[in-house]
Amino acid sequence: MYLLKVNSFQLKLFIFLIITLTGTNAWAFDEKSTKKLIENQCAACHKFQGKGESRFNLKAPDLMWGGSKFKRDWLVAWLQGKEKTMYSKSYRWDLSTTPTPHPSITEEQANGVANYFEKNLMDSTVEPNTIDYSKFSEMEYNFGAKIFRDYSCLGCHQVMEDGKPTGGLQSADFFEAFKRYNPDWIYRFNSNPPDYVPHSGEYVADVSGLGLRYATGYIALQGNKDFKFFEPWKTEYFANANAASGAKVYKEYCSQCHGAQGKGDGPAAAGLNPKPAIHANMALSDFPDDYLFNLVYYGGKSVGKSSLMPDFGLTLPPQDLANVIAYLKATFKGGEETSSNASSGGTKMAKASGTDCSQKRKTKKAPAIYLSKKNPLPITETNIKAGEDLFMKNAKPIACKMCHGKKGNGKGPGAGGMSPRPRDFTCSTMMKNIPDGQLFWIVKNGSSGTGMMAFKKLKDNQVWQLIHYIRQFGK
Ligand code: HEC
Ligand code: HEC
Ligand code: HEC
Ligand code: HEC
Repeated sequence: MYLLKVNSFQLKLFIFLIITLTGTNAWAFDEKSTKKLIENQCAACHKFQGKGESRFNLKAPDLMWGGSKFKRDWLVAWLQGKEKTMYSKSYRWDLSTTPTPHPSITEEQANGVANYFEKNLMDSTVEPNTIDYSKFSEMEYNFGAKIFRDYSCLGCHQVMEDGKPTGGLQSADFFEAFKRYNPDWIYRFNSNPPDYVPHSGEYVADVSGLGLRYATGYIALQGNKDFKFFEPWKTEYFANANAASGAKVYKEYCSQCHGAQGKGDGPAAAGLNPKPAIHANMALSDFPDDYLFNLVYYGGKSVGKSSLMPDFGLTLPPQDLANVIAYLKATFKGGEETSSNASSGGTKMAKASGTDCSQKRKTKKAPAIYLSKKNPLPITETNIKAGEDLFMKNAKPIACKMCHGKKGNGKGPGAGGMSPRPRDFTCSTMMKNIPDGQLFWIVKNGSSGTGMMAFKKLKDNQVWQLIHYIRQFGK
């Protein structure tokens, strides 16, 4: 027999090969052995060539673009069985609704597969660095979250919301998408899903350009708790901002609504509801930079206000934007307390002279199911304190005191600029007639056609805490 004829050199070579192939050397799984592994094992379920096909003709997701789709660390871990399955109702939910564990291979083999993917399975239609994550802001993430809801993504893909899995179980979940996907591939996929997964129950959304950037960024960051969002108001544009140059920008872009002197009397103003803020009656100097940036760059809607206040991010170069904000802060310093033309509302004078402090409320009435709601939280010090923290500093996009005032009297730094004026919570004759459910509904949804924005990000409990707190002003 052949083995008997082996000479000592051949034996040594044989032993050397055995050691190298089973050892921990990365090259133990060279391209050739990897190719064999893929052909003999993986190809029983996965396709590595050709075009994307309906999942109803496949056993497992197509891998022709495997080199571009996955992050290497995730891929190597997944192949060793160290990562969670992505399809909680199984990839072929028409055949089985429980996920089957994935066959696993050794670390060396997994590295070999990752090398093979990177060498042979690159998707040439994926453009590198489509999203520059050093410039991805929290507001863009929020827009992505909104697209994810508004365009039904949540209908078929799950994400974590407030620590709970939310969404449909049809397709891959995105709980830890940041570990799994290369964002450039997600971007490419999102631009036309049927290029990858035709006839699989997939969906093409009517978003383009920036919308794709937002939605992709949102998915690509799922599960990433350490990501530091870009803060444009901390860049050199703001450090170098020049209020005098900002005055020119104000004239060219803002005065058409806000008026040349910021009196809210530009040519467009008469037809607008809400009216453009009267900057001249506001202490914009006291407004936080992040708020002003988001308002001017992403528009009123980004901070829960009217879309009549445009988003200037695509119109104004970054330096002009920083300059106009510097101009706002340097020019408009008159708060309610200092301005003489305070209009109607619950003023101290009125109260002192015994007249009714009630404001004319044209506020929309909350739907009946809200109106009947009572504050479910007990009036405890903890709840009132939590409400106070939100009111004074933590509520996003901006603290309530900026309009309603530190004393709750409706005279914060922003109050003078808006009509109708912010509610005066100290006026107990008025406040006692407004039900909890009404207050709750307005805080969550804003009062349309007024300066009162929607605080969508506040949780129900936080709104109830705020309501306990603002009711203290009338006591
Ligand atoms: C018995 C069938 C089967 C075999 C064999 C198999 N896979 Fe899979 N593979 C699947 C299924 C099913 C999924 C979807 C997993 C899920 O539900 O999360 C999957 C998922 C994957 C994914 C993630 C795909 C994606 O788009 O999310 C990769 C990568 C992968 N397999 C690679 C391999 C490699 C490499 C091999 C060979 C070593 C292999 N698979 C062998 C069935 C198989
Ligand atoms: C009607 C169901 C449905 C909706 C709605 C939907 N998708 Fe999908 N999605 C799919 C299917 C099916 C796939 C293919 C993967 C598979 O076979 O499960 C997929 C795959 C993906 C993938 C690749 C995941 C992977 O691991 O291969 C991304 C990224 C994605 N969708 C993003 C989105 C975005 C963004 C939206 C919203 C704009 C969206 N999807 C809406 C069904 C849907
Ligand atoms: C098309 C009209 C229009 C233009 C142009 C416009 N705004 Fe406004 N702006 C508004 C309206 C309307 C509001 C009130 C929004 C609300 O209360 O919901 C507003 C509100 C504001 C506020 C107050 C926000 C607050 O919290 O009360 C600031 C500050 C502001 N705009 C700055 C600017 C700057 C800076 C520019 C120019 C770069 C500008 N606006 C251009 C319509 C406009
Ligand atoms: C940018 C200015 C602004 C900010 C910030 C603001 N408000 Fe208001 N708020 C107003 C204005 C203006 C009104 C009057 C609206 C109206 O008459 O319908 C108002 C009205 C209200 C009302 C009265 C609802 C009713 O039915 O009468 C409540 C409650 C309220 N705000 C709570 C809050 C809370 C809580 C916060 C912080 C989480 C907050 N507001 C932040 C401007 C603001």
